[in-house]
Amino acid sequence: MLASRSVTRQLVRNPRRWNHAAAASPPLNSVTEQDVAHFAKFLAPTSILSTIGSTPTPSSELSIYNNDWMGKYYGKATTVLKPKTTEEVSKIVKHCWERRIGIVPQGGNTGLVGGSVPIGNELVLNLGNMSKVRSFDPVSGILVADAGCILQSLTDYVAPHNHIMPLDLGAKGSCQIGGNVATNAGGLRLLRYGSLHGSVIGLEVVLPDGSIMDQLTTLRKDNTGYDLKQLFIGAEGTLGIITGVSILTPSAPQASNNVILALPHFDNVLPLFKQVKKELSEILSAFEFIDRTAYDLAVKHGQGRALNDDEVEGAQCFVLVETSGGKREHDEEKLNDLLENLLTADEPLINTGVLSQNPAQFSSLWALREGVTEAVSKEGKAYKYDISVPLATFKDVVDQTRERLRSKGLLHDDAVMHVMGYGHVGDGNLHLNIVAKAYTPEITDAIEPFIYELVASLKGSVSAEHGIGAMKTHALHYSKSDVSIKLMKQIKQLMDPRGIMNPGKVLEMN
Ligand code: FAD
Ligand code: MLT
Ligand code: ZN
Repeated sequence: MLASRSVTRQLVRNPRRWNHAAAASPPLNSVTEQDVAHFAKFLAPTSILSTIGSTPTPSSELSIYNNDWMGKYYGKATTVLKPKTTEEVSKIVKHCWERRIGIVPQGGNTGLVGGSVPIGNELVLNLGNMSKVRSFDPVSGILVADAGCILQSLTDYVAPHNHIMPLDLGAKGSCQIGGNVATNAGGLRLLRYGSLHGSVIGLEVVLPDGSIMDQLTTLRKDNTGYDLKQLFIGAEGTLGIITGVSILTPSAPQASNNVILALPHFDNVLPLFKQVKKELSEILSAFEFIDRTAYDLAVKHGQGRALNDDEVEGAQCFVLVETSGGKREHDEEKLNDLLENLLTADEPLINTGVLSQNPAQFSSLWALREGVTEAVSKEGKAYKYDISVPLATFKDVVDQTRERLRSKGLLHDDAVMHVMGYGHVGDGNLHLNIVAKAYTPEITDAIEPFIYELVASLKGSVSAEHGIGAMKTHALHYSKSDVSIKLMKQIKQLMDPRGIMNPGKVLEMN
């Protein structure tokens, strides 16, 4: 779990991004002293952090809002606003609309595509002060919460009612439900509970002109015309600011188990997935994959429980299987039977399997998988590609990328140290990570558009779950047709004609 993270002080320039931003500056105004004075009329002094104005904040205090989680993208916002109510958000946005000031909505700032920090002279509107649960109905399981609620705190809130959040991700200790909705976050429970397009029941959104769209319904069924909330799910803050979320929380499973399986070959992953689905059927709740490099890095950086040396010997990759069901004995029996069948098969698909025996071991096995992201960031600078490709090609994509870097002379300790894959096999989502000593134009040029072309040739998606942000605006066309992109631009133009809402994210600036 990501509890907190110290923000790197070392600002890393990404030349491609800055060239792009400079070439397409939006016609937006910078925040002035008068603007800050205006905000001070309705915001508490603690809700305004600004290096300009009568009581300037030291710029070092703005650093955590200007830098992204990876230390890859950074902004130069002079002003960060932290409103406490939807009405305050509305007043800020109305003023920015009138003054043509760009706004970057920001949640927990754990995004991995540079969407949550400014490109130009935008201000940051951070939702961290909006963190109240508005209501919870234990019968329907519908939770209504401020957008700034941290995902883990919502999990803790519904737990005594025997409910869980329909999503779970490694950033749960920092990311906010509004940020999750804005990115349409996937994570570790998507296999079981589906995407937020299904779980989110209603939204409250402040639109670019400052008006408040209240669709914070708790109705399961509402078929009255266009389902407008869907537009904001995954829009990455480019169409409005989500201030409230109504979400369906499932009943907590009575029993959860997990097992980590060591596989001699990647080729065994698909037959294993088939067998696991067949044998565990309704109790299967996660099927996650890490290759050997990812496993070794997680262990090196102290994430989760390492297996014994003899258990990992000869393993090319690992699969974490989780079950969630209604009866512990029944589920354990099914899982034990599965393990036995796997180990006694004529041609075993696995070398070994380690079953968690208690809640601490359960969490520790999960930490091996969830902790890969943290381990990667401790090891070096990560080029992260979260792609959807056919399951059978996962290893090939990683291998081809490694070979590409080798052929360019970039696979060594002073450039790219590791190329690896992990991810959500059950969802067809591979996380291809290239871990380098530093972000450099040579590495970027070696892997882009190479990776995007590879994904397109496999009819995949350049973003399975992290979104487009600032990172992939130029790559959107690999996964979306011209007609679709044109329609997206028309929607953006209709809803945000002044282009103030998270400019330069998702869609390239004109
Ligand atoms: P931020 O990073 O602050 O913002 C992300 C985007 O949403 C930005 O474009 C921002 O402008 C917009 N935004 C934020 N809040 C709002 C709002 N209230 N209204 C409108 N727009 C808003 N992602 C996954 O999908 N699956 C994973 O398994 C996963 N695991 C992760 C593990 C780790 C360790 C880390 C660091 C990240 C992981 N992520 C994962 C990525 C990230 O956590 C998610 O994208 C998350 O949903 C972002 O939430 P946030 O509150 O941090 O949003
Ligand atoms: C994950 O599945 O671990 C997350 O999406 C984060 C990552 O890609 O590193
Ligand atoms: Zn993921």
